[in-house]
Amino acid sequence: MSNQPQEAQIEYDEEKIARAGAEAEKGEDFFDDHEFDAGLTDQAGVAGRRHTLHDGTRIPQIGLGTARMDDAEAEAVVYEALSTGFRLIDTAVNYENETGVGRAIKDSLLPRDEVFVTTKLPGRDHGTDSVRRSLEGSLGRLGLDRVDLYLIHWPNPKHGLYVDSFRTMLELRDEGLVGSVGVSNFTPEMVDELIAKVGEAPTVNQVELQPQYQQEQLRAHHHGHRILVEAWAPLGYDSKMLEHEWVQEIAADQGRTPAQVILRWHVQSGVLPIPKTSKAKRMAENLDVFGWELTSRQMSRMKMLHTGLSASGFDPWEHEEM
Ligand SMILES: NC(=O)c1ccc[n+]([C@@H]2O[C@H](COP(=O)([O-])OP(=O)(O)OC[C@H]3O[C@@H](n4cnc5c(N)ncnc54)[C@H](OP(=O)(O)O)[C@@H]3O)[C@@H](O)[C@H]2O)c1
Repeated sequence: MSNQPQEAQIEYDEEKIARAGAEAEKGEDFFDDHEFDAGLTDQAGVAGRRHTLHDGTRIPQIGLGTARMDDAEAEAVVYEALSTGFRLIDTAVNYENETGVGRAIKDSLLPRDEVFVTTKLPGRDHGTDSVRRSLEGSLGRLGLDRVDLYLIHWPNPKHGLYVDSFRTMLELRDEGLVGSVGVSNFTPEMVDELIAKVGEAPTVNQVELQPQYQQEQLRAHHHGHRILVEAWAPLGYDSKMLEHEWVQEIAADQGRTPAQVILRWHVQSGVLPIPKTSKAKRMAENLDVFGWELTSRQMSRMKMLHTGLSASGFDPWEHEEM
């Protein structure tokens, strides 16, 4: 398995990228099933808005992140989020809160099919049998018999096990224990390797993506393969994006908050954001990003916020997450 730097490996099909970019510009995003009227901003409408993944699974267009919450906090926060209208909950073995997330889902009394649960395989469980054991552990803690989306949390390329892990996750999907299989923090080259060796593309790649770090090449590559991009740290945590003068100006012009402007920019770009908040008021605020639009001039301005600097500084070729 390779751990060479990104630049050395990639061969982009420039024509395909340009075509994908042009389609996205025209708003012809195949993930968007245009099922809902643009004026619909009520709770049921938000809950109902879904993208369709390349395996046919329908996934909500915004989710709640749960990093840095323990079980007790996750239980209370996820319960509140489900009551507010969130339908996608993002957890991971390494967040150590799957038990709390599972309790909240049970307590919400929502039909199982209405809640979309993502969890992630930690680096220490990469492989084959270890993946199966890891998923069984997650299902036990969540109190579920299936997770809707199962992601490889980090590629850990130095260990050389992400292809085996992905293949095993597809087997688990075929057995009905997983709805869809995806990855997180994978580069386009790593995704190409999965496709070449396993013959199937991940449905989702969850990556760090914010106005200052827009991952345009990755998005164009993924668009060409119908891989939905999810944004972690969508608000840019310590990057001070919420305080940026242009974001504040757009927010004032739209009569919205800076967080809503950033989340609307994600949604309007065909990216699925999973903002984390523990505050009920912010949950409602973060969900209210449908039924209104940024103008093309405002979208162009948002595009200009890109600096190429990741807020976390994590490099998927180097970062080890066990
Ligand atoms: N796959 C991966 O490797 C990976 C890595 C990191 C994160 N993630 C996932 O992505 C999720 C989101 O990322 P993140 O938590 O790092 O960053 P984030 O969602 O961009 O930012 C979260 C911060 O923003 C604040 N916030 C939320 N809504 C706000 C609003 N409307 N106005 C002002 N501040 C607001 C939150 O504070 P309050 O809670 O006080 O509101 C929190 O401090 C995580 O929870 C996790 O599920 C995945």
